[in-house]
Amino acid sequence: MKYPATRLRRLRRTPALRRLFRETRLAPEMLVQPLFVKEGLDRPVEIASMPGQRQHSLRSVVEAAAKAREAGVGGAILFGVPARKDPRGDGAADPAGVVPAALRALKAAVPDLVLIADVCLCEYTTHGHCGIVVGEGPHAEIANDETLPQLARAAVAYAEAGADLVAPSDMMDGRVGAIRAALDAAGRKETPILSYAAKYASAFYGPFRDAAESPPSFGDRKSHQMDPANADEALREVAQDLEEGADAVMVKPAGPNLDVIRRVKDRFQVPVAAYQVSGEYAAVKAAAARGWLDERTAALELLTAIARAGADVVLTYWATEAAGWL
Ligand code: PBG
Repeated sequence: MKYPATRLRRLRRTPALRRLFRETRLAPEMLVQPLFVKEGLDRPVEIASMPGQRQHSLRSVVEAAAKAREAGVGGAILFGVPARKDPRGDGAADPAGVVPAALRALKAAVPDLVLIADVCLCEYTTHGHCGIVVGEGPHAEIANDETLPQLARAAVAYAEAGADLVAPSDMMDGRVGAIRAALDAAGRKETPILSYAAKYASAFYGPFRDAAESPPSFGDRKSHQMDPANADEALREVAQDLEEGADAVMVKPAGPNLDVIRRVKDRFQVPVAAYQVSGEYAAVKAAAARGWLDERTAALELLTAIARAGADVVLTYWATEAAGWL
């Protein structure tokens, strides 16, 4: 490896050489497009903090999914914004709700796009928390075990409406096992679970909460989402979810946690997804709008880094656009 016998620049000299010797290749089919569908909309609404992304109507979500599929994108993950919320998030499991309705329409229109249904209560609870809240004021607390049956019911409703995978993002303990048992009991033994296993309490979810209309009305999500300072704990979360029956695991947000993606991949050798979240997207969009970054180059660099870290699947708001670039 010693200079001058070895000159590492030799294989970088032309675009053709760089292309041939590239170690990490992004492919459209590894990308997943997040889609928001809002009950009662008759046309899509732009999301101010996520330029280029929309809250969709039942019609426009099908168009967006078809466009993603045409571009070669592998999957879509669906988030619902219901017309009515309630304290227990019962709407999450309503078979007539906006997500099951969208799943049915999408399954019929775009059958070979993998449909992932996010499972959480935060879009459905009046208080915006991911679980059932017990106690008042300073004693308010998200009740773990009471939340599990709600999540399990929602997962079954989505599987029955046509979801190819369910993806619990709530971070309650034991939810993968509860969802697996409920799916099996409902005759959905073949529906896989993609668990948001290592999900951090992150500042980068801000724009998503505008899009999903799900900010917590009091407090934060630190009683269940992980401390960004912890990585060993992420391995314990992943191990536990796999033991409970997760078929694939997710690390989120992706960019700040590339080391976690790599450690999960090396340790468990299971399918690993990584979610490049709303704030990671919005930050680049905002800088690009000022002419401070080139959006396309920056986005592809970030996505390549996530794949290089070990992600097999990348959830990204750039999915459809990036598939076009690739
Ligand atoms: C919860 C959920 C969140 C995201 C995905 N699922 C928000 C949260 O935990 O507050 C964030 C995704 C993003 O920021 O793009 N249902």
